[in-house]
Amino acid sequence: MNPDKKTKIIFSVGGGKGGVGKSIFSVAFGTVLAGEGHNVALVDLDLGTANLHTYLGIIKKTPTIADFILKKTPSLKDILLETSRKNLRIISGAEFVPGMANPAHWMKLKIMRHIKALPADLIIIDLGAGVHFNTLDFFGVSDRGIVITAPEPGAVINAYSFIKGALFKSFIMSSGNIPCSGLLSILKRKKQQRKRDLLLRGLPGKLKTFHPTCSH
Ligand SMILES: Nc1ncnc2c1ncn2[C@@H]1O[C@H](COP(=O)(O)OP(=O)(O)OP(=O)(O)O)[C@@H](O)[C@H]1O
Ligand SMILES: [Mg+2]
Repeated sequence: MNPDKKTKIIFSVGGGKGGVGKSIFSVAFGTVLAGEGHNVALVDLDLGTANLHTYLGIIKKTPTIADFILKKTPSLKDILLETSRKNLRIISGAEFVPGMANPAHWMKLKIMRHIKALPADLIIIDLGAGVHFNTLDFFGVSDRGIVITAPEPGAVINAYSFIKGALFKSFIMSSGNIPCSGLLSILKRKKQQRKRDLLLRGLPGKLKTFHPTCSH
């Protein structure tokens, strides 16, 4: 990547399984990019079980994203902290606060809007484990998604579920006001065209369960 070419890119780091190295990767990736001269912001969105700050050696109490969610600070950029590495800053995640891991939809949109406005060229979002809609939503609105797994069956299967969940969520989010019947025929047509695509398997059935206009 060329540091002189200033295009803002938001990366999200996810993967279904816990403990596979998402946070370590985020810190390493951010450190390398910052070392190359990019202005990098790490954002810890592992709400409730954050640890990016620990991996960066930040042990003293600092403002965290909880202050933003609890409206103690109006802007996310106000809590962008310096780290010991040049060009690398961090929005620190919060310790456990009740309800923190499940922000309301409008709050998720607000968080994303503020992340996009951070004064950095490259933004790396570290996500938590699992395939909860919160995690998939943040993953889906990023410019680039990075899925981390480990070479063991459980982790690979969870990563696969994560990719499938992200695809499903982005399909629903991008479908706007298309009615259920229209979405089902789009999915069925895609399945016909891509018979061997495992990611599309079972999606029409799931659509009936999850999409607001399909549930009745
Ligand atoms: N490539 C690696 N080589 C050796 N150890 C690693 C590697 N990646 C991660 N670890 C170790 O595995 C542990 C978990 O890593 P990490 O916290 O990055 O996982 P995670 O996917 O972010 O977990 P969580 O889902 O709980 O957030 C840490 O102790 C870390 O030091
Ligand atoms: Mg982590």
